[in-house]
Amino acid sequence: SRPRVWVSQPLFDDIITRLEPYFEVDAAREVADHAPSRIAEALREADGALVTLNDPIGAAEVAQAPRLRAIANVGVGYNNLDIAALQARGIVVTNTPDVLTETTADFGFALMMAAARRITEAERWLRDGQWQGWAFKSLLGADIHGATLGILGMGRIGQGIAKRAAGFGMRVLYHNRHRLPEAVERECRASYVDYEKLFAQSDHVVLVLPYSAQSHHLVDAATLARMKPTATLTNIARGGLIDEAALADALAGGRLAAAGLDVFEGEPRVDPRLLALSNVVLTPHIASGSLATRRAMVALAVDNLIAALGFGPEAGKPRNPVPAAKPL
Ligand code: GLV
Ligand code: GLV
Repeated sequence: SRPRVWVSQPLFDDIITRLEPYFEVDAAREVADHAPSRIAEALREADGALVTLNDPIGAAEVAQAPRLRAIANVGVGYNNLDIAALQARGIVVTNTPDVLTETTADFGFALMMAAARRITEAERWLRDGQWQGWAFKSLLGADIHGATLGILGMGRIGQGIAKRAAGFGMRVLYHNRHRLPEAVERECRASYVDYEKLFAQSDHVVLVLPYSAQSHHLVDAATLARMKPTATLTNIARGGLIDEAALADALAGGRLAAAGLDVFEGEPRVDPRLLALSNVVLTPHIASGSLATRRAMVALAVDNLIAALGFGPEAGKPRNPVPAAKPL
């Protein structure tokens, strides 16, 4: 019989159809945060799966799935997957880098600007009927042009943000686990600084680094205390990078001017203290969400899954295998 694949969420039917020449396709009809038992059940008979960041999969979920050989994650971040456990089982994991880089960088820049210039706060104020005449001193924000931008995580998306910053005349600092080659630094017009300096010297900090046990709550009360009280913090990576309680304290206490958050530790739940603050722009994890890019992500994941399961023109050579997990 033909191999079976599970598609965990409704994606784009016209793209998912490309799986049908090769596989029996079991595609979810409704958006859902599946319970672990439901994921395990769906994987039981599957040879492959196309999943999203809603779907946490580790040893327990694949324990009853002897045929499972490939998981294609529709997304660049894959902290929903226990890579070490899946690779130990011989399961190939793929992700979708590159196709979302520019779209995500656009959004990171937009969110930073919205936080700095208080765009959503101003709109709420206007819609609430509070605009009683042009108010010279209301809703004054911080400049982007000429300011110092700090980028934490200088991968493809971080570099995309740095390139945009050049057009705004910003000075760009970055910190990364590994310093970039000089040629790349020059191309991005970005200077490497240590973690402490990045937070102390930047007017706007953007987080674009992968989330892992090592980066959990990397931005904590001590880090926030280094920041200028006039600064902004924007997160388009993963919510767990920030200690949200410490961030809410800093924003409420006037120790940080504003924040832009597209990701949250307990998504889709948002800390009620953040919801109550006016100086934080909140969006529901949409940084890669242009129609064209979301379609490109699904198409790439479909290609990766077909190739990882040994079919199609790239049989056995998926474009985006997640590298072997390093031991801690
Ligand atoms: C979305 O957050 C992604 O990692 O692609
Ligand atoms: C991370 O993988 C990035 O593309 O920045």
